[in-house]
Amino acid sequence: MDRPVNTLNNPDPVLEVTLRPSLFVDFTGQAKVKERLEIAVEAARKRGEALDHILLSGPPGLGKTTLANILAKAMGGNLKTTSGPTIEKAGDLAGLLTNLEPGDVLFIDEIHRLQKTVEEYLYPAMEDFKLDIIIDQGPNARSVQLKLPRFTLIGATTRSGLLTAPLLTRFGIRERLGYYTAEQLQKILIRAARLLQVEIEENGAMEIARRSRGTPRIAGNLLRRVRDYAQVRADGRITAALADKALAILEIDENGLDEMDKRILETIIVKFGGGPVGVNSLAVAVGEEPDTIEEVYEPYLIMEGYLNRTAQGRTATETSYRKLGLKFIAGSSSGNQPKLL
Ligand SMILES: Nc1ncnc2c1ncn2[C@@H]1O[C@H](COP(=O)(O)OP(=O)(O)OP(=O)(O)O)[C@@H](O)[C@H]1O
Ligand SMILES: [Mg+2]
Repeated sequence: MDRPVNTLNNPDPVLEVTLRPSLFVDFTGQAKVKERLEIAVEAARKRGEALDHILLSGPPGLGKTTLANILAKAMGGNLKTTSGPTIEKAGDLAGLLTNLEPGDVLFIDEIHRLQKTVEEYLYPAMEDFKLDIIIDQGPNARSVQLKLPRFTLIGATTRSGLLTAPLLTRFGIRERLGYYTAEQLQKILIRAARLLQVEIEENGAMEIARRSRGTPRIAGNLLRRVRDYAQVRADGRITAALADKALAILEIDENGLDEMDKRILETIIVKFGGGPVGVNSLAVAVGEEPDTIEEVYEPYLIMEGYLNRTAQGRTATETSYRKLGLKFIAGSSSGNQPKLL
């Protein structure tokens, strides 16, 4: 991801490795995506071929890196990980590609941040497993074609809208991950608690799940904070009441909204009279990029019923007004100044 959404969505490298499922069976939720990927893996294995190139997109912390790991393991290949911004020159990419073995998976995180020149080198590599490199400079410069092993590229992005069409279409499989339900997060939390050796009651897990913004990474981070509280202020067991107290101290929003979510809603209501407002004006007003608003924040706010996306722009719903303690005047969301209840 480009920037941390909030501190709760910051990856903790140790925790991520500990909690990251390595098999499809331990990966909860995303049922359709999972099924399609499992079928693709099985079919490729049966044919003894490399898996098609896969693009995984979706907001931060939903399991893109986790799925890349699972896929590489299921195919029995090695996983080589890199990210868009770290590949500075075409030569860096050539180095990565020529070191691959047949069936290996090259994972490029934040693939929307690849440089244009590097991206162009990737096209023939993906399509024909060939690489044209220029060696030497000046009058001695010549192009050499290298044959690459059959490999699988897995790209991950939080911003699929920023990918160029030629790159996008070279991925045979494109999957978008969505937010998790509270029940799915509850299941993920119970598994995580077992791995962290924390005692947790089902409704304790539910309490944390409801406030995790549909995001497994946030759920994992909240679990760790609640565990601290349970160990210091109680007997270490996470019940619903204890989770509630711990999360209240941390000032975690009861619906899981983060600061940017709230700023977006407040801006639509206070600055734009409830909307409709176009995404570009909204982006300028909250100081964020339009694509980030559309791909990272909006999906959750729409799913939870805080926001509507109409042809004229975004409008705040009654739920948003209530959330911010403002009075909603039905049927006239545009032009109305909100009133405090
Ligand atoms: N379906 C799942 N089941 C169980 N745990 C999950 C699942 N998805 C994600 N997680 C947990 O959430 C953490 C974050 O997931 P992951 O790193 O795969 O997200 P990401 O989509 O790659 O995020 P980013 O865009 O920030 O790179 C993982 O370490 C893992 O513990
Ligand atoms: Mg990731």
